[in-house]
Amino acid sequence: MGIKAYNLSKSFDEGKTFALKNVNIEISQGEFIAVIGLSGAGKTTFLRAINGTNSPGTGTLEVLGQNVTTLSGKSLVSLRKQVGFIFQQFNLVKSLSALQNVLVGRTAYSPLWRSVTGCYYASDVTLAKKTLDSVGLRGRYDEKARNLSGGQQQRVAIARALVQEPKIILADEPMASLDPKLAEVVLDILAAVNQQKNITILVNIHVLELARKYAKRIIAFRKGELVFDGKPESLTQAILEEIYDVDKATL
Ligand SMILES: Nc1ncnc2c1ncn2[C@@H]1O[C@H](COP(=O)(O)OP(=O)(O)O)[C@@H](O)[C@H]1O
Ligand SMILES: [Mg+2]
Repeated sequence: MGIKAYNLSKSFDEGKTFALKNVNIEISQGEFIAVIGLSGAGKTTFLRAINGTNSPGTGTLEVLGQNVTTLSGKSLVSLRKQVGFIFQQFNLVKSLSALQNVLVGRTAYSPLWRSVTGCYYASDVTLAKKTLDSVGLRGRYDEKARNLSGGQQQRVAIARALVQEPKIILADEPMASLDPKLAEVVLDILAAVNQQKNITILVNIHVLELARKYAKRIIAFRKGELVFDGKPESLTQAILEEIYDVDKATL
């Protein structure tokens, strides 16, 4: 089912400038895609369009067989359940434990009173613990998020996305606030998830080397336009100059 965008455009100022401009792309289930481009190029807007966080722009955007540009209410909630989102700043509830933060990812699967009272299904608790184990946080279940390091917090955030049992994970510069070694740990986990569970991964990466190392397909935005879509080895110097809009000397 994947993701399909046809002439997708999005403007925040009534058409004066475009955060996304006539984007056409088809993404198959199970792909691992790195999204690159300068700050302000449209990377975040693209990810937010896919999970329906942005109000619809123009054109068509189909995600997992649903037309996101016309979805609302229950259908939108049900789509979001299948799309995990990982943020640069982790977005955990700092006063809650690692386990409680992961259980937030099960909210859409249980009645509201259970999440509010913390009375989670035993099966959800088992799943959450198993998932924390899988991201290298075995035994850290009860630690408050605020006491975990940045890298550990991001792994909790990944676990929270995973217990949603998503078909797609969108990660918006998930390694940007981590040092380079931890950045690779986060990308290793996403790569493993992609391979083992066939979850489609779209990850915004501002470090080009990391995009090249991890992704089989790279897409690049420049001023809202998709200016590259291909294999890492096809990213030539000329294309990089176009994407990053700078002269040779600074690359
Ligand atoms: N909520 C918003 N309101 C107004 N303008 C926005 C909003 N979100 C993004 N933009 C604008 O859209 C463009 C693309 O932004 P963004 O998608 O955040 O780029 P990137 O993630 O590549 O840095 C920028 O010009 C930005 O200022
Ligand atoms: Mg961004």
